[in-house]
Amino acid sequence: MRVLFTGGAGKAGRHVIPYLMERGMQVTNADLVPLDVPGVDNLQVELTDSGEVFNALSSYANFSELEPGTGVPRYDAVVHFAAIARILLRPDNETFRINTMSTYNVLEAALKLGIPKVIFASSETAYGICFADGEILPSYVPVDEDHPTVPHDSYAMSKIAGEACARSFQARFGADVYGLRINNVIEPHEYEENFPDYIANPDLRRRNIFGYIDARDLGQMVECCLRTDGLGYQVFNVANEDTSVALTSQEICDRYYPGVEQRKQLQGFETFYSIEKAKRMVGFEPRFGWRQEVWAR
Ligand SMILES: NC(=O)c1ccc[n+]([C@@H]2O[C@H](COP(=O)([O-])OP(=O)(O)OC[C@H]3O[C@@H](n4cnc5c(N)ncnc54)[C@H](O)[C@@H]3O)[C@@H](O)[C@H]2O)c1
Repeated sequence: MRVLFTGGAGKAGRHVIPYLMERGMQVTNADLVPLDVPGVDNLQVELTDSGEVFNALSSYANFSELEPGTGVPRYDAVVHFAAIARILLRPDNETFRINTMSTYNVLEAALKLGIPKVIFASSETAYGICFADGEILPSYVPVDEDHPTVPHDSYAMSKIAGEACARSFQARFGADVYGLRINNVIEPHEYEENFPDYIANPDLRRRNIFGYIDARDLGQMVECCLRTDGLGYQVFNVANEDTSVALTSQEICDRYYPGVEQRKQLQGFETFYSIEKAKRMVGFEPRFGWRQEVWAR
């Protein structure tokens, strides 16, 4: 599978790209900066520039592709992760402009060029809880993909705008377009760095609906989506099956969500960020969790 991956030099991409390559995929990283991983083809692309995006998606990935003499091969899929990845990195209007224009450009070019699948990074922030002014509680728990998405911040607004574009382009062109509402990405080294604080102070995880996703499991979710065809437009929550704190889920409910509708009796440390849809529709099965990673040390 020949895949163009945007933003692959970032926190998530630098784990997801090796994961995909280990499973036999050929990956081109389209980013402002290169990813220093053997075997990755890097192309410096400014994704807010539509011309650059069309060009990158219709170009050779490397010199060896010149050899057959049969022209430029078509990408089988695009994975779009590039973004300004939260608020407070750039002025709000720039975060919104860069993220929405990049996502629009990638979707438009990929689908007009006949690429049959686009997977794009949306975010848990779409639910409006993460970057709320003060505290906004979920309308119900566990939060699933049908939960209202009315965020107040420019980053999450850009993700909602991206989802709207994705839905419309999919309706027009009929390709598979899957959006991933990714929870807080945790790299392997971050378990030891961060989780002792989360155990000591569960309040720190309130804005993440107590969820998280291991960067390697995010790689698995992308692979599941690449290998599952025919679903049209979909959005999927992506998180671990457990929470990121030591309290049981019922203890979290009692302490943080009094009065919030509980649609399911949560067992043990079960996540408040439902991944039932991802498990059912693409076979996602997260494997890496902090309870093994932290307590094994
Ligand atoms: N990290 C998280 O916890 C998290 C959670 C939910 C969703 N997400 C989403 O997942 C995706 C990946 O997140 P991340 O943490 O790896 O982000 P990151 O900031 O670490 O990496 C983003 C990458 O995008 C590239 N980029 C930004 N603007 C670009 C442009 N105009 N043209 C080309 N490249 C550009 C950057 O150079 C960088 O390499 C993002 O879309 C983010 O919004 C991340």
